[in-house]
Amino acid sequence: MRETLEKIRESALEQIQSVGASLEQIRIRYLGKKGELTAVLRGMGALSAEERPKIGELANQVRADIEEAIAAKQRQKEALALEKRLKEEKLDVTMPGTPVAAGHLHPLTQVQRQLEDIFIGMGFSIEEGPEVELDYYNFQALNIPKNHPARDTQDTFYITDSILLRSQTSPVQVRAMEHRKPPIRIISPGRVYRSDALDATHSPLFHQLEGLVVDRGITMGDLKGTLEIFAKKMFGENTRIRFRPHHFPFTEPSAEVDVSCYVCGGKGCRICKGEGWIEILGAGMVHPFVLSNCGIDPEVYSGFAFGMGIERVAMKAYSIDDIRLFYENDERFLEQF
Ligand code: DAH
Repeated sequence: MRETLEKIRESALEQIQSVGASLEQIRIRYLGKKGELTAVLRGMGALSAEERPKIGELANQVRADIEEAIAAKQRQKEALALEKRLKEEKLDVTMPGTPVAAGHLHPLTQVQRQLEDIFIGMGFSIEEGPEVELDYYNFQALNIPKNHPARDTQDTFYITDSILLRSQTSPVQVRAMEHRKPPIRIISPGRVYRSDALDATHSPLFHQLEGLVVDRGITMGDLKGTLEIFAKKMFGENTRIRFRPHHFPFTEPSAEVDVSCYVCGGKGCRICKGEGWIEILGAGMVHPFVLSNCGIDPEVYSGFAFGMGIERVAMKAYSIDDIRLFYENDERFLEQF
């Protein structure tokens, strides 16, 4: 029996050390209820009273040795596994990161924000108005009564006789003057709609930015000064501006405003079509009728207004020759900005 026990110990310890051994299977094989050591212990009844304690002691020792060997091997396996994991999952925090492809703002939004920043820097605040507008605000209050020829130049989407999609941002002027007291100094960027067919220079939806200043003693000089600063900030320090007489029903006098060509500086080139100047916006002194329509006394107050197409400014600033590029969302175009 002694020999059997020694053999059990020997072969168990040997198996525990062997590569790929399943420790649990070894434990069951030797120490389990039906295990080899257990079988030996069962046979101890046949031993003499003298032999029994000695063999019992040895059997316990063998069991303890096997258990200890299993535990030690188990600890060793765990340590190896941990070491392996630490090696495999090592993270070098000094390595450069994987770049994340980030998007950016649409060029029209970029230009709109640039325009907003320029005017906010001059003390203007942003005023918004509805895109679904009343005929009254879009036309009548702006001194464009029904049947006025100016309505023909802005092919309007009507929803009913008196409700339309605004064809310009100018109605926001009226709304601002109705609920604010002078001094008023606002810009109003936003979408406008005209029932034009889409081509290289027209779109049924585009964006405008309107400006309005009303206070005592506002003159054409203030308008010029404001637009000059705007033009220099937008198109470069050497930019000059020029006013050409024009007609808008809601301003008197009215002007179209050009900036000197920022490519050739005014000499004439392909971009300005040999003119040296590029038309950029409409402007003028707020018509006294418009002021009084909004409850502002034209004998006390005066004001100037201007309006520009954001697409137009963006097309000029980036030499883009087709307005459709802004709406097609072709990444090859967008990623250039
Ligand atoms: N609303 C005009 C348009 O859509 C642009 C404009 C011209 C706005 C002169 C103004 C202005 O405020 O004073 O063509």
